[in-house]
Amino acid sequence: MRLIRRDILSSQSFLLDSKLNISFMDRLRLIAKFQKITASIESPHTQEEVYAFAKAILTLPKSDGVIVEAGCFKGSSTAKFSLAAHLAGRKLIVFDSFQGIPKNNENHDKNIYGGSAGFPEGSYCGALEEVKANVNKYGALRSVEFVEGWFDDSMPHFDRPISAIYLDVDLVSSTTTCLKYLYPLLEEGGVVYSQDGHLPLIIELLEDESFWKNVVGFPKPDIRGLRNSKLLSFVKHTQNVTV
Ligand SMILES: C[S@@+](CC[C@H](N)C(=O)[O-])C[C@H]1O[C@@H](n2cnc3c(N)ncnc32)[C@H](O)[C@@H]1O
Repeated sequence: MRLIRRDILSSQSFLLDSKLNISFMDRLRLIAKFQKITASIESPHTQEEVYAFAKAILTLPKSDGVIVEAGCFKGSSTAKFSLAAHLAGRKLIVFDSFQGIPKNNENHDKNIYGGSAGFPEGSYCGALEEVKANVNKYGALRSVEFVEGWFDDSMPHFDRPISAIYLDVDLVSSTTTCLKYLYPLLEEGGVVYSQDGHLPLIIELLEDESFWKNVVGFPKPDIRGLRNSKLLSFVKHTQNVTV
């Protein structure tokens, strides 16, 4: 019930947000499309989470940077972000194995809300053709490029400037790879959202100054929501900051 109320409030706040670079009618149409996608494609995200990132996409300053989504499951979040990316005139690059979660031995046990958390190999699997069909039906497929493969194989080859990143990858190993290869490509002032802030092992990773310094190569940013929210966000600022 509380979740439904938060979802309604987040769509209202999206509708009334005049800072977004689109008209009231476009905001209204986007909300209707998001609702249809939610009703049509299985997904673990909340409306609050996708509206937060859609807002980030729709308030980006002008640049050539792309939007990156890592972890798309069956394409519900992808369809929503593709619509926002299309309105913002940006490309959405989607990284996924399209085989689900990789083999791992991470024991996540309980999330910060006390619920159980586990990510067996092959869970959250959406095949590439299924995801494409969903995005084609409900989103803006022409604004999306898919990069298929394990992050460890695909991300080291990626070299385009990035304006905003959305991570929903569940594992510490996957989060590590995403930040190691994507964060250096993020523009100054670019934003990262993660939907994995409810997982204690991921909190531990993000709090670790040595991870930021030695693996990512940038100072640890101020992370909004850390320890109290599933949705985390941070901005990349490197000027006047020393590693
Ligand atoms: C929880 S699901 C994403 C849910 C989606 N964002 C949504 O809201 O519907 C996690 C996704 O991350 C992908 N994933 C996790 N680790 C990965 C890795 N190392 N390489 C490639 N894909 C990975 C899985 O295939 C899965 O699609």
